[in-house]
Amino acid sequence: MISVVILISGRGSNMASLLAAADARTLPARIVGVLANRPDAGGLETATAAGVPTRVVDHKLFARREEFDAAMAAAIDEFAPDLVVLAGFMRILGDAFVRHYQGRLINIHPSLLPTFPGLHTHRRALAEGVRIHGCTVHFVTPDLDHGPIIAQAAVPVLDGDDEATLAGRVLAQEHQVYPQAVRWFAEGRLRVSGGRVILASPQDGSSALIAPQASGA
Ligand code: GRF
Repeated sequence: MISVVILISGRGSNMASLLAAADARTLPARIVGVLANRPDAGGLETATAAGVPTRVVDHKLFARREEFDAAMAAAIDEFAPDLVVLAGFMRILGDAFVRHYQGRLINIHPSLLPTFPGLHTHRRALAEGVRIHGCTVHFVTPDLDHGPIIAQAAVPVLDGDDEATLAGRVLAQEHQVYPQAVRWFAEGRLRVSGGRVILASPQDGSSALIAPQASGA
């Protein structure tokens, strides 16, 4: 059983999917703390209701990013987690922070990386007319939205999609793929070799690529 700290900035639906998986004992992990950089992050209430301790490290109270990063790291380290999970955490973390947690810091990004790093991924996917979109779970490195890919889930982009429908289709996959990736980490199945994550054969037949039917989610 590993201990996990989750960092959020907003509603925290990915956090909720991890809490649910841990609760259902399908995740050999204990969520020991939820930290937010915004006092109004909606996910804080969800975490509290689930009995998980929360902390706020308000980025607005820090003049420099390094100071915020250090305060956040100090708050995280109080929980001594085996894994730090970014779940809709909308601050860029500096090199020192990332290096401190390298190998035990993961993120979910709402696109099939390396396409569409950064913001507004669904809008940009629609503007480019891509047929396929999705989400990526990856180890965090100092390069933003980069780093060895643990799992990806693909969804079709359908005629008539708008940002909201596409975001919803991707989010449904995020809620599957993130608990899956954390499970693999907890089971010690992930090894990074030459920038690629090698997944040691999961017993449940799960795959690092999830590709639902082309007709929709
Ligand atoms: C998700 O789409 C995540 O991939 C992105 O921000 C969104 C956060 O959603 N980084 P939630 O807070 O987990 O509901």
